[in-house]
Amino acid sequence: MTDVAARLQELRNQGLYRRLRLVDGPQGPSVTLGGREVLLLCSNNYLGLADHPKVRQAAAEAAIEWGAGAGASRLISGNMEPHLALESQLARFKGYDSALLFGSGYLANTGTIAALAGQGEVVFSDELNHASIIDGCRLSRAETFVYRHGDLDHLAWGLRQAGTRAALVVSDGVFSMDGDVAPVEGLFDLAQSHGARLMIDEAHATGAIGPGGRGSVSAAGLAGEVDLVVGTLGKALGSYGAYVCAGAETIDLLVNSARPFIFSTALSPPAVGAAAAALELLESEPERVECLRANAATLRSALASEGLATNRSSTQIVPIEIGPAERTMDLCELALERGVFAQGIRPPTVPEGSSRLRFTVMSTHGAEELERAAKLVGTAAREVGVIPIPA
Ligand SMILES: Cc1ncc(COP(=O)(O)O)c(C=O)c1O
Repeated sequence: MTDVAARLQELRNQGLYRRLRLVDGPQGPSVTLGGREVLLLCSNNYLGLADHPKVRQAAAEAAIEWGAGAGASRLISGNMEPHLALESQLARFKGYDSALLFGSGYLANTGTIAALAGQGEVVFSDELNHASIIDGCRLSRAETFVYRHGDLDHLAWGLRQAGTRAALVVSDGVFSMDGDVAPVEGLFDLAQSHGARLMIDEAHATGAIGPGGRGSVSAAGLAGEVDLVVGTLGKALGSYGAYVCAGAETIDLLVNSARPFIFSTALSPPAVGAAAAALELLESEPERVECLRANAATLRSALASEGLATNRSSTQIVPIEIGPAERTMDLCELALERGVFAQGIRPPTVPEGSSRLRFTVMSTHGAEELERAAKLVGTAAREVGVIPIPA
């Protein structure tokens, strides 16, 4: 029998123990935490749509009209008109024939990878891909070739070794812990020339990069060409759930073989209604995306002025790498005490020795509050010894 207390103690000893924080109220640019107002810099509500009045209203109306829950999986009796309407809306937005909703991005990734690759085949996965992609590779029972981050030469070498066993290349569009963008064109060319499919996870790219926030695949001019585009409804689209865009035949295969789609209850009508309203707002108010980009640039340059390097980040995900887990959490706590709520990210979410304080920016932040936050974090970083105090 596993000793639960000993396992928890081991996590504490390694500085890896996690606990839940309680946020009071919706995900605005500031939130109340422990009775105090703090600047929220760790929410994925990038465009301020989770707390938008029209999105809340749409969720409420969907609950009134269609009920609080879907009652069953889509293939049993849970398939409703709002699901189909949102799938068409998402497919059109992303430039694809078809789309399929999933319960979450985690489920979309695990289910899709396992449906498209199997024993005897090889999946190619960037070393910094999200945990849900890693787990999808494991579940597929295919061999996984993990290529060095964004390294097309390494990927090409792996594809050559795999020959006809190459089934799927999979990458985050925007990397969730680093905020950099995948080399989508290069991935596409390599996948094509080796007869493998390409799947891009746009969880952090939708609403943030590309024309009108359409993501990294659109930014590369490959909408409708990359075989599969995954996205979540839980981040910029302010709701919950996820989707896969692809050709009609591939979507049909997912309906018939993606286990998280088949064996899980359909998305609830309020989640679907909220996402549909959020997508309408994204399309009708593309200036939100511009504002997000400008805010991200403001935070990156304000942190740089404090001597805090933001490495590869070119998006709204802005990490400062600290290294040791404990020191990262010291900085996280001190920043929070001073009113800046950013999350310390530790292994296994990031590789050993690369713990970081990760900021996520929203379009609804003000430039001055981001500059003030960077100053506060700079001072806190000097106090905990992350950057040397000038002599
Ligand atoms: C790149 C990436 N893919 C997928 C997911 C999972 O999405 P969801 O929160 O909808 O399960 C996340 C969530 O953090 C993510 O960062």
